[in-house]
Parts: sequence; structure tokens; C-alpha cells
Amino acid sequence: MNCQLLLFAIILGFINVAVSAVENTPPASAIENNEVCIDCHHKQDGELVESWRASAHVTTEPVTTCINCHGNLHKEVADMARRDQACIICHGGEKDPVVHSYSSSKHGTLMRLEEKQQDWGQPLKLANYRVPGCSYCHMHSGNHNISNTVRQNLMEDPESEEVQDLMQSICWDCHSPRYISRLFSNGEAMLEIARKKFREASEVIGRVENEFTDDDLLQARQMMKNMERHLRNVYLGVAHQSPDYQWWHGHPALDGDLLRIKGEIGKLRREKGIIAN
Ligand code: HEC
Ligand code: HEC
Ligand code: HEC
Ligand code: HEC
Ligand code: HEC
Repeated sequence: MNCQLLLFAIILGFINVAVSAVENTPPASAIENNEVCIDCHHKQDGELVESWRASAHVTTEPVTTCINCHGNLHKEVADMARRDQACIICHGGEKDPVVHSYSSSKHGTLMRLEEKQQDWGQPLKLANYRVPGCSYCHMHSGNHNISNTVRQNLMEDPESEEVQDLMQSICWDCHSPRYISRLFSNGEAMLEIARKKFREASEVIGRVENEFTDDDLLQARQMMKNMERHLRNVYLGVAHQSPDYQWWHGHPALDGDLLRIKGEIGKLRREKGIIAN
């Protein structure tokens, strides 16, 4: 290569670096829409954007945008998204079982006491936080596919082991592996007992479906809806480590539902003069 060409190549290289530096500089003013974030960040880390796209935050309408969590001022994007408030706003507010099961846990209680002193500028990693908030568990190390942190089916779930492996490794940041694996297997056992109560109630109704009309069974079926809710409470109690949800809004509520469903079917039978078998 002759000297002139070499010089030309070097100058071209400089221009390239300069242009990409400008392209890569995040804007200082408010960013007007999500496409702007995606355009620039896709070039830097395509995987991050793709894993966000694969999550329920994008596959469920309306889409949860980058700006929903991060806000639109670049200098505080990370800080904003790591706070519980970024998630709570959309996840039904303080009273929603998803949020309340967390806020009634030891993690949630300690977080409420300490969130003002917490330095939210720190990445969600070991030693930066004393207790985990929503994003610590669900978006650890910048994981933008929140769907790989939860099972998709409560009654039978083929993928729960993968979810649990991922979650346990996050708990190890602060707890011993032995404690955590015992906790998780107790949790699964508790959930399985809850499923049994649910199945028993559906069978009680299933057995008399030929004897009664849909109108007759309306009330019992409505009670099944409560059971679905209470089964989910047990799950949330186990998931978010809330004794209240396991033992108060969960199991005792399911026991009550099961008794009421049996009572309701007994009453229908007496009304129709059918002798219990
Ligand atoms: C023109 C390019 C560009 C645009 C547009 C842009 N960013 Fe960035 N972003 C960057 C660069 C470069 C970095 C890494 C350097 C830095 O932190 O400033 C970054 C870093 C980040 C970080 C990590 C910050 C940290 O402290 O670790 C987040 C989160 C982020 N951007 C989100 C967003 C969101 C959300 C939007 C849209 C509202 C957006 N970005 C728009 C270029 C951009
Ligand atoms: C559900 C909320 C949420 C959404 C939606 C979201 N993010 Fe994030 N993002 C976070 C959280 C929380 C962190 C902090 C992760 C950490 O500290 O480990 C983060 C971290 C980042 C980082 C820094 C990654 C790293 O490993 O340091 C970038 C860059 C980023 N987000 C860009 C985006 C872009 C671009 C979008 C839209 C395509 C987006 N985020 C959508 C919550 C979100
Ligand atoms: C703009 C609203 C919005 C924000 C902000 C938001 N979410 Fe979501 N999230 C949703 C919607 C909608 C769904 C899908 C429907 C559902 O499961 O409730 C969802 C689903 C989820 C799921 C279940 C995923 C699945 O596959 O079932 C998790 C876990 C989750 N979000 C965690 C978070 C966390 C952690 C944050 C904060 C860092 C957050 N979300 C912020 C709206 C939001
Ligand atoms: C200590 C870690 C941890 C914290 C903190 C945490 N979660 Fe979870 N979350 C989990 C685990 C574990 C599961 C259950 C995973 C599975 O399916 O086995 C779960 C389940 C969920 C689900 C699925 C519920 C359903 O019915 O499908 C949502 C949504 C969710 N969390 C959102 C949140 C939000 C919002 C916050 C903060 C208010 C939060 N989580 C705080 C660990 C955590
Ligand atoms: C960032 C650190 C951190 C992470 C990550 C973390 N925890 Fe914790 N956890 C704590 C702290 C601190 C306490 C309060 C300890 C105490 O009782 O003083 C606690 C308390 C608990 C308790 C209540 C114990 C009791 O005696 O009442 C349970 C159960 C628990 N964690 C389970 C988990 C599970 C399961 C995970 C993972 C999904 C997890 N933790 C992730 C820090 C963490």
C-alpha cells in the first residue's frame, strides 16, 4: 500500500470513530419515544432488546416500553427502573396480591424501611443491596425477559424447574444454598397440597354435572373461581416468601372454599331429594 492510500485509510478510520461516537452518545434532553431507545440500543446490545421482545411485557398488549420502566431522561434511566415503584404502578398498585404478597414479606418490609437510603445507581448484584426488590429478582443482571423468571401454568408446569434454578441462583447472593433448596422444596410441597384441594373441589362438582342444571351449579362454580384466586395466593405466598399469603389468604381460604362447595352440593341434593351416596 502506498503512503497516500494509507493516510487516506487512517483519516477514514478517524471519521468513522467520530461519527459512531456521536451516534452512540445518549441525548441529554428528554427522549420523545421508545423507538429512539430501541434504535440506538439495538446496535449496542441486540440481545437485550430481543429478550425484552420475547417477554410478556411485549407479547401482552399494551406493550411495556423501555420508557415505562426507565423514564425518558437518559441520566437517570437505570436508577428509575430499579426501584419497586417502576413495577408497582403497573402491577395493580399496593393492594394487588402480586405486590402485597411481596410487601408483606420480610424482604418487602425491610425494603420499605431502607429504600430511601438505598443507592439505586448500583447494578442489581451481590453486595449492592441488602434486600431484593422486584427488579433484583425478576431482572437480575439486566435480564429483560421477565417471563423466564415465572412459571406459565399453575396446575401443571413442565418448565418450573428451569425457573426455579434461575431464581435459586439469585437467592444465593445472600442466603446459603442449603437453606434455599429446602425452602423451595417446602414451597413446592405446599403448592401441591393446594392443587389437591382444588382438584378435589372440581371433582366434587364434576361428579354431579349430569344430575343438575347449569343454573343449579352456578353458585358452586362461582366458588371455584374463588378457589382459583386462593390457589394463586398460595403460589404468590411461596413465590414472594409471604407467610400471610401462604397461611392466611391461601390454605385456610382454600379449606373454607372446599367445605362450602361440598355443603352447596349437599344442599342441592337435599333440595332435589337425592340421597347422598
Ligand atoms: C443515541 C444513542 C442512545 C439513545 C437514543 C439511548 N441510549 Fe441508553 N445508552 C447509550 C449508551 C452509549 C449507553 C452507555 C453509556 C452510558 O451509560 O451513558 C447507554 C446506557 C443506557 C443504560 C444503562 C445506564 C447505566 O447506568 O448502566 C440504560 C438503562 C439505557 N441506556 C436506557 C435507555 C433508554 C430507556 C433510552 C430511551 C429513553 C435510551 N437508553 C436511549 C446510548 C443511547
Ligand atoms: C420492566 C422494566 C424494564 C423494561 C420494559 C426495560 N428495562 Fe432496561 N432495565 C430495567 C432494569 C430494572 C435494569 C437494571 C438491571 C441491573 O441493574 O442489573 C435495566 C437495565 C438496562 C440496561 C443496562 C444493562 C446492563 O446490563 O447494565 C440497558 C442498556 C437497558 N436496560 C435498556 C433498555 C431498553 C433499550 C429497553 C427497551 C427495549 C428496556 N431497557 C426495557 C428495567 C426495564
Ligand atoms: C407499563 C406497565 C408495566 C410495567 C412498568 C411493568 N410491568 Fe410487568 N407486566 C405488565 C403486563 C401488562 C404484564 C402481562 C400481564 C400480566 O402477567 O399481568 C406483565 C407481566 C410481568 C411478569 C409475568 C411474566 C409472565 O410471563 O407471566 C413479571 C414477572 C413482571 N411483569 C415483572 C415486572 C417487573 C419486575 C417490573 C419492574 C422492573 C415490571 N414488571 C414493570 C405490565 C408492566
Ligand atoms: C425475592 C425475589 C422476588 C422479589 C423481591 C419479587 N419477586 Fe415476583 N416472583 C418471584 C418468584 C420466585 C416467583 C415465582 C416463580 C415461579 O413461578 O416459580 C415470582 C412470581 C411473580 C409473578 C407471577 C405471578 C403470577 O400470578 O403469574 C409476578 C407478576 C411477579 N412475581 C412480580 C413481582 C413484582 C411486581 C415484585 C415487586 C412488587 C416482585 N415480583 C418481587 C421472586 C420475587
Ligand atoms: C440481596 C440479598 C437477598 C437476596 C437476593 C434474597 N434475600 Fe431473602 N432475605 C435477605 C435479608 C437481609 C433477609 C432478612 C434476614 C433477617 O431475618 O434478618 C431475608 C429474609 C428472607 C426470608 C425470611 C426469613 C425469616 O427468618 O423470616 C426468606 C424466607 C427469604 N429471605 C428467602 C429468599 C429467597 C427464596 C430468595 C430468592 C428468591 C431470597 N431470599 C433472596 C436478603 C436477601
